[in-house]
Amino acid sequence: TTHKIAVIAGDGIGQEVVPAALECLERIARLHSLDLQFTHFDWGSDYYLRHGRMMPEDGLEQLARHEAIFLGAVGSPQVSDAESLWGLLIPIRREFQQYINVRPVKTLDGVKSPLASKEPIDILIVRENNEGEYSEIGGRIYRGQPHESAVQETIFTRLGVSRAAHYAASQASSRGRRLTSATKSNGIIHTMPFWDEIVEEAVRLYPEVTLTSELVDALAAHLVLKPWTYDVIVASNLLGDILSDLGSAVTGSIGVAPSANLNPEGDFPSLFEPVHGSAPDIAGMGLANPVGQMWSGAMMLEHLGHPEAASHLQTAFESVLREGLGTRDVGGTSSTSEFTAAVLATIDAI
Ligand code: NAI
Ligand code: MG
Repeated sequence: TTHKIAVIAGDGIGQEVVPAALECLERIARLHSLDLQFTHFDWGSDYYLRHGRMMPEDGLEQLARHEAIFLGAVGSPQVSDAESLWGLLIPIRREFQQYINVRPVKTLDGVKSPLASKEPIDILIVRENNEGEYSEIGGRIYRGQPHESAVQETIFTRLGVSRAAHYAASQASSRGRRLTSATKSNGIIHTMPFWDEIVEEAVRLYPEVTLTSELVDALAAHLVLKPWTYDVIVASNLLGDILSDLGSAVTGSIGVAPSANLNPEGDFPSLFEPVHGSAPDIAGMGLANPVGQMWSGAMMLEHLGHPEAASHLQTAFESVLREGLGTRDVGGTSSTSEFTAAVLATIDAI
């Protein structure tokens, strides 16, 4: 099977962890007879400094010719974050209708967490990625005056909420069959009851899945105190953003957390990237943890329809971590390339 994949290593440690993950993906592809065709795009902050934009004018058209996008990170001290985010990532998410953001929150043996959990955690956070609280509707009036006001509208649509709920329920169905919906319908009395209703309606089609609606404040506390009790969590754009950052903090280093921005129908390319940014503080030093990027690669293989190849890669980096090898952020002493070499050897050995 041939898959065309667009690669944007981007800035900072993106230039270190993307090549590391690609080596692993190429090795996996060879062992599973997959033809992964990578096209590299040198877009990002350096490109911006040379051309005044993060990607060429026809950047989205170029990406559209691929089945998936494999991204490192964008962001540099020399370019404003608004520029790097709105010049590349946000246009990609919107243009390609990547309406689901998935972040697995899972403890890995060998990754020390400051909030070390008593029991293993394995949660899938499904965040609605295209609407909700992040709308452009609203405004500010009476600037500087005592009655100055700001209004920001939240938009939930039946389509948007139900497709997120369906995605989450179908994931729950093939996992622990428990779905928790983050809500705040006691305080937010129009949009959140609507969210609750549509979620309930959608999940009714999955009788094997038990749905619990939980107020997000209590849910946040429980995520810290007893994270092992959750299976799949579905949340709106804003609530999901916050809960997923909380989740990755509970399981350990930001360097291991992966994410996928999905267009589940496959009409457009989906994007796979680690949760972390370009980490300018350690860029170029060989200290970057490549696990978040490798795990994102495993999610990409799964999305492309190759679950065995995905789990081969996943098993390899998990077992290297379990053996006690790791980069500095997870308490180890390996460099990016030493860790990657160990993963490659493990891929061959299993
Ligand atoms: P960051 O995630 O880049 O770094 C936060 C801290 O975690 C740093 O101390 C860093 O050294 C450490 N860290 C991150 N990834 C690591 C890894 N793989 N291995 C070891 N340590 C790691 O977040 P920060 O510093 O807030 O942002 C830096 C730049 O990245 C900014 O320009 C920001 O806008 C951008 N950014 C880009 C994202 C993206 O491309 N999706 C996401 C988050 C931030
Ligand atoms: Mg965030």
